[in-house]
Amino acid sequence: MLKIILLVMLAAALIGGAIGAIHLLRVAQRNQKEMASFQGEPVSYTASLGKTLVIYYSWTGHTQNIAQRIQKRTHADLYRIETQEPISSAPWIYLILKRQLSTGRYPAVKKPLPDVSGYDTVFVGSPIWWYTAATPVLQFLREMDFQGKKVVPFSTQGSNYGTFFEDFASRAQNAQLLKGESFNNLPAKYDDAVDNKITVWLNTLN
Ligand SMILES: Cc1cc2nc3c(=O)[nH]c(=O)nc-3n(C[C@H](O)[C@H](O)[C@H](O)COP(=O)(O)O)c2cc1C
Repeated sequence: MLKIILLVMLAAALIGGAIGAIHLLRVAQRNQKEMASFQGEPVSYTASLGKTLVIYYSWTGHTQNIAQRIQKRTHADLYRIETQEPISSAPWIYLILKRQLSTGRYPAVKKPLPDVSGYDTVFVGSPIWWYTAATPVLQFLREMDFQGKKVVPFSTQGSNYGTFFEDFASRAQNAQLLKGESFNNLPAKYDDAVDNKITVWLNTLN
């Protein structure tokens, strides 16, 4: 009996591993195809977005990386959303964060919130958690009034941003929304292509 249970467990682990490997391979192929269209000479920046603020939340650094690239391109100011309590590093944190999403009990964010009155364009970046915005960003959106400013969402994710843009649009209070963009986490060999992707996107925002 024990032998059968062990065999079933081994088979399940092998099948799970194979499905995971196929998924990663497909994502890598999709990324390669997408980024091929942004390779080559640096794209010129032609947008005029006025005084710009880039707001972002980042737990593991990817969203910060994209936020800093946008900031460099647009000479923006940066505002980092931070939780009042650090996010736990418990192994079951994924489930805790999923529960925050299903219950709507999001973590408190540090104050003061940014004053957007002096800006023409405001970017807001979030990691994707369970196919939507990270809960600190959802909490931020509960409390933030964008005062009629142009607001541009962006996300970073492994491969699937789910309903992020719809969810963002329905929560961004008094925002005049412009076209957002999403960024899969990519190896460093794509850095220049990512910069071009950002510039092409920014140029459409005029
Ligand atoms: C709790 C949790 C849930 C996640 N859910 C998704 C998801 O639904 N889709 C996806 O493509 N990536 C998902 N990811 C991966 C993150 O979106 C991705 O690594 C993101 O770039 C992290 O941003 P950060 O480094 O700025 O925190 C998830 C990560 C965490 C921690």
